[in-house]
Amino acid sequence: MKILVIEDNEQDQKIIQRFLRSRGVDDITLASSGQEGIRKACDARPDLVLLDTVLPDMDGFEICRRIKAEMASGVRVIMMTGHVAAVEPEKARDAGADEYCVKTADGRSLLEAVSRVFPSPADGADVSTAAGSMPGDASSGDWGPGKARDAIKMLSMELERKNKELKALDQLKSNFIANVSHELRTPLTIIKGAVSQVISGIYGLVTEEQRKKLLMALRNAERLNLMIDDLLDFAKLEAKQVHLDLTEVNMVELAREAHSSFYSLAVEKGLDLNLEYPAPLMRVYADRNLLIQVLTNLIGNSLKFTEKGDIKIVLKEEPYFIECRVADTGCGIPEDELSRVFDRFHQVGARVGDHPKGTGLGLSICKEIIGLHKGSIWAESAFQKGTAVIFTIPKKGHPGPEAQ
Ligand SMILES: Nc1ncnc2c1ncn2[C@@H]1O[C@H](COP(=O)(O)OP(=O)(O)O)[C@@H](O)[C@H]1O
Ligand SMILES: [Mg+2]
Repeated sequence: MKILVIEDNEQDQKIIQRFLRSRGVDDITLASSGQEGIRKACDARPDLVLLDTVLPDMDGFEICRRIKAEMASGVRVIMMTGHVAAVEPEKARDAGADEYCVKTADGRSLLEAVSRVFPSPADGADVSTAAGSMPGDASSGDWGPGKARDAIKMLSMELERKNKELKALDQLKSNFIANVSHELRTPLTIIKGAVSQVISGIYGLVTEEQRKKLLMALRNAERLNLMIDDLLDFAKLEAKQVHLDLTEVNMVELAREAHSSFYSLAVEKGLDLNLEYPAPLMRVYADRNLLIQVLTNLIGNSLKFTEKGDIKIVLKEEPYFIECRVADTGCGIPEDELSRVFDRFHQVGARVGDHPKGTGLGLSICKEIIGLHKGSIWAESAFQKGTAVIFTIPKKGHPGPEAQ
């Protein structure tokens, strides 16, 4: 909240400023005269003006009238006086002030006035009606609700504003990532297409040396493609643009599909890729494509971080959920990194230096997707021995996504 304080007494300025800061308001503009106040009100467009009743060049009530007339955007004005005896609520109301209060060292009556001007939505009160509750006004009784409640109101107003700002920034970042990754896809597709055509020989004979280089270019373009996909998926999940397309899914069939699409890659790397399941039908209610994406990310990681041994996909049936474990005999994850690998962009630093790096988004995407299904995901690992990432999906009829 932006506040303009029009107050000529330096001591009072300091007290008010300190008081506002202690309540989390830091956008404060000061003015020491009426003219300066009116000019700053027009320039800074504050949400609230705290206005002294007596200023060296102008009468406070006149300043109030002018500010209200100049600013069509409905700025709120609280008039302040130094003495209880000088309270002139009628005059303030006639000048268009929203509230009137007495300056006290603890700022209590100011706080009360602020909370009447900006009541929290929970009160069901309309800001526009606050002007009716001047002190001394028979309808309002005394100075309003308790101090603690008022302090909470003011803090929550400020918090709400900060929250909105943060959300807007976050949204901006997600949109940026989404737009950039989307735009990167087209040229990449063209590069891949062109390189593939040259490799195929339709533009002339390709020597073995040229072929090797072109294949390397193609492999890297594929990797870039995967990273861009990660970024796009991440941005969509962040922006809550992903809606679950829930159907009955047989986890065994899903795991078989993932197994067969990675099988030849694993064999090429000299690794065994196994699939184990206790029964041929293990039903969950889930978004098929998203679960495939989770399995693809997990098996992809195991392939990337395992040099010898095997990768196992193991399904298990529990009373309320199906558990899926992707375990490998790779480089493992140090214990202190285990919980952090699900954080966005987190990668286990130097120890994977010689592995092809991704975006560090795969596991956080998995976590989001499993979260949407009301399941859990975690990792177990013994450093340099292997890693297992396990996720669960509630069975149909148990508290899962359909219960939302
Ligand atoms: N199976 C695994 N074995 C060893 N380390 C892993 C494994 N899976 C994930 N990690 C670690 O967790 C990090 C985050 O994984 P992920 O979010 O998929 O990002 P990325 O694969 O793009 O690096 C990886 O960079 C790696 O350090
Ligand atoms: Mg990954």
